[in-house]
Amino acid sequence: MTGRTTLVGIMGYPIRHSLSPLMHNAAFEALGLDCRYIPLEVKPRQVRSALNALRRLGFRGFNVTIPHKRRILSFLDRLTPEARFIGAVNTVEIRNGRLIGHNTDGRGFYRAFAEATGRSLRGKRTLILGAGGAARAVAFQSTLEGAASVAVANRSLARAAGLIRDLRRRTRRCAVSVLPWTDAALTWGVGQADVVINATSVGMSPTDPPLLLSRVLRPDQIVCDLVYQPPITPLLREARRAGATAVGGLGMLVHQGALAFEIWTGRRPPIEIMQEALFLSRAD
Ligand SMILES: NC(=O)c1ccc[n+]([C@@H]2O[C@H](COP(=O)([O-])OP(=O)(O)OC[C@H]3O[C@@H](n4cnc5c(N)ncnc54)[C@H](OP(=O)(O)O)[C@@H]3O)[C@@H](O)[C@H]2O)c1
Repeated sequence: MTGRTTLVGIMGYPIRHSLSPLMHNAAFEALGLDCRYIPLEVKPRQVRSALNALRRLGFRGFNVTIPHKRRILSFLDRLTPEARFIGAVNTVEIRNGRLIGHNTDGRGFYRAFAEATGRSLRGKRTLILGAGGAARAVAFQSTLEGAASVAVANRSLARAAGLIRDLRRRTRRCAVSVLPWTDAALTWGVGQADVVINATSVGMSPTDPPLLLSRVLRPDQIVCDLVYQPPITPLLREARRAGATAVGGLGMLVHQGALAFEIWTGRRPPIEIMQEALFLSRAD
């Protein structure tokens, strides 16, 4: 590093577990860019002062993770339409001292989906499990990509209904609906879907049960899990058992990061290098 090195990073609390520094620094090195990506451990009550510091220190931008993705909104100068709809920011760009909030999760999901399946979402009937930040990003992107329908099921029905209300304001062509979080409704919803997407955090803990069993899934379906740790979740195991196409969350992790890389550097990210950095770290 020199006085001229461009700095970016990731703000969260805790942050030591994050794989993003590895992925981004490998990409900078591969392209010969004089940039460094730094983990920034910031407690919730320190967000405002941390933002002032990053701005003054000349950071080009940073990623935002738990627990700041929503809290940070009120400190930013501008939001992209995606970030405004989703109501959360995962990437900040600092341009002329102004803080611009982006959310790359939806596009990251879609790029990973297309890469893994060779398919698009155009005309597809999608069922999204969950209604938090990640679900909002995926729902928003699905309508942009021309999905025929988006159904949302969430443990808290009110949250799913809120997402559906917001989607209806944005789209006329895509049929949107809400489902209650019951076995019967989920089984019915899965029966109607071409693509099933888990955007809840269920699957992260080793004791989590599968959200759906293989007997309700079909071989012609695509089942995506946004959870990336473990890479093969109980839901994906059930999807494979049913003969469905199973897509894990690691691809989305790479692509949402690659989009942030593009925002900060204006360069095409070396996706394979980023993927390799993640896979190698997981082999440790
Ligand atoms: N692969 C990637 O790059 C990527 C990117 C972003 C997020 N993610 C993953 O996506 C998941 C969701 O993230 P988020 O940011 O959307 O979190 P969030 O805003 O906190 O939302 C969590 C969601 O999970 C649901 N949920 C939690 N525990 C549940 C349970 N026991 N049973 C049923 N539903 C439950 C919540 O339902 P309620 O509303 O009822 O509480 C809510 O819909 C996480 O696992 C995260 O790691 C992955």
